[in-house]
Amino acid sequence: MARFSDVWLSELYNKCDIVDVVSDYVTLAERGGRYWGLCPFHHEKTPSFSVNREKQLYYCFGCKAGGNVANFVMKIENLTFGESVELLARRCGLPMPKLVDDKQYQEIKEKKRQIAEMHKLAARFYHNTLMSAAGADALAYLKRRGVGEETVKRFGLGYAPDSWDSVVSLLTAEGYSEPLIGESGLAAVKNGKAFDAFRNRVMYPIINVFGDVVAFGGRVLDDSTPKYLNTKDTVLFNKRRNLYGIDLLRRQRSVKSAVIVEGYMDVVSMYAHGVKAVVASLGTALTKEQAILLKRYTNDVFISYDGDEAGEIATGKAMDILEAEGFNVRVIRFDEGLDPDDFIRRYGLAGFAKKVKAAPSAIQYRLEMKKREFLLDTEDGREGYAIEAAKIIARLDSPIKRERYAEMVAEQTGFSAASILGQMHKKTANENTSANYRYNRTEKTADNSESAFLACALADIRSFEAVADEIGADEFTTPSHKNIFSALSDCVKRGIQPTDAEILSHLEREDDRNEAVRLMEIMTAAEDPVAYLKDCVKKIRTAKMKGEREALMEALRGASAEQQRSLLARIGEIDKELNRNRFV
Ligand code: UTP
Ligand code: MN
Repeated sequence: MARFSDVWLSELYNKCDIVDVVSDYVTLAERGGRYWGLCPFHHEKTPSFSVNREKQLYYCFGCKAGGNVANFVMKIENLTFGESVELLARRCGLPMPKLVDDKQYQEIKEKKRQIAEMHKLAARFYHNTLMSAAGADALAYLKRRGVGEETVKRFGLGYAPDSWDSVVSLLTAEGYSEPLIGESGLAAVKNGKAFDAFRNRVMYPIINVFGDVVAFGGRVLDDSTPKYLNTKDTVLFNKRRNLYGIDLLRRQRSVKSAVIVEGYMDVVSMYAHGVKAVVASLGTALTKEQAILLKRYTNDVFISYDGDEAGEIATGKAMDILEAEGFNVRVIRFDEGLDPDDFIRRYGLAGFAKKVKAAPSAIQYRLEMKKREFLLDTEDGREGYAIEAAKIIARLDSPIKRERYAEMVAEQTGFSAASILGQMHKKTANENTSANYRYNRTEKTADNSESAFLACALADIRSFEAVADEIGADEFTTPSHKNIFSALSDCVKRGIQPTDAEILSHLEREDDRNEAVRLMEIMTAAEDPVAYLKDCVKKIRTAKMKGEREALMEALRGASAEQQRSLLARIGEIDKELNRNRFV
């Protein structure tokens, strides 16, 4: 993002009217000073998608998606920010700016280019070796595992010969220096000498969304260890930000849903059997960055990990990460000992399709797992499960969904749906023992003041400037609010007074932009904005202190006499502070 200067971006936003651009995709009608149409990002029958020409923003009151003209193009064309800006610049005939003239940036860029080039050469070499006499054993190994030549070609699989210098001498001959070959991860450097990093292994090239080979995974042909070697992180490759299979997934026209698996072999095998939207995280637990990457292509995912205990634990973690990014998550589990590759080879695409059809949603899966911890044929077991299930159901936002699952649990336990729903509220009123709950409640009250603060700040940057130093980003409770605050104060510090549309180009996460546009929509300036903002700051702090006070009161119970004294001292301080605020 830092590639484009604020000045250039503001010129672009001036030239590309959002109403014109959106009209290419959505039929808009003017009403009440806004333009309305059917939201292209969710299904609806009556228009709740609006474009504000004055502010140069779009916002959907239905799905709460919003942003400036570049964000709209990003989302509808599935592009990165940089790509969509480029598209818009071309559209309105604005020349692209010269790239930032930063020496270090240029050097890294050049290094990345060279390392990508080296990987391309290496991938071709490994592939050719696999197809030659030297690769006969490896090719036979793959065939034995059901990977035919077509799949080998599709994935560009290869074989690294059992030699210390095949790739090193290939790359040296092409003019690359040994230190750079070492930095690329294709070789390890010992005592100033470079040695091939991969030897006698089946090679899986890892290809990024631009179609460049950026790393490799290499598997032994037998049972020796380590089973896989992976390219270390380099300037070009960060395993937390890449997914194996993303290149093939990206090239599909519309991806309804994607399957996430654990292993390279699972991706290859599933693809060969006809499951084409399939990716694997790269030898790490699924990361948030990977979830965000996948979100560019689909909202629906099936977690399909190995049928062992490790796979079960990893499923739980992946579920949390994917749900936090707004995915619709469903879960596929296999019988003990089977991974997706084993399963699809045994039961075929039709067998897998059945699994997909029967896959429980994340919430159903959580309930199912919880149920196993209890003996439902005992009174205590049913009660225990009903109480735990209520906690799981309480995490759902939708009252309708809550009722649906409460009814399901009612059927299983014999308690009424009403009492299970009641248990949820009970929990909210009683369960002061849960740190989680306390946090949530503090967050709610603080959240309102935070929203009010940011909405007013966004509407009136000058006033924000006057109070910006009185509060810090870490005093906000939600990540979006922290980021929006930081973006605003960065602008102010650099002496920029951004328009609404411009602020959004300082927010990298889609969630943050949606929240910013929501805040821009809810507020017109207060009568005395500076005083209003100061008041909000006070409320944010008060909410925080109240939250802390509640936690301390709770800790009093069961604390030793000595602990109680120090807890009470802190409570006293808070009370003083709260009182002072009340009268200021
Ligand atoms: P698996 O052992 O399930 O691999 O590990 P797999 O892909 O099913 O391999 P096959 O079927 O035995 O050939 C899952 C993933 O964990 C990473 C790799 O990314 C692998 O695909 N892994 C595993 C490593 O990075 N190193 C290892 O030693 C093992
Ligand atoms: Mn496997």
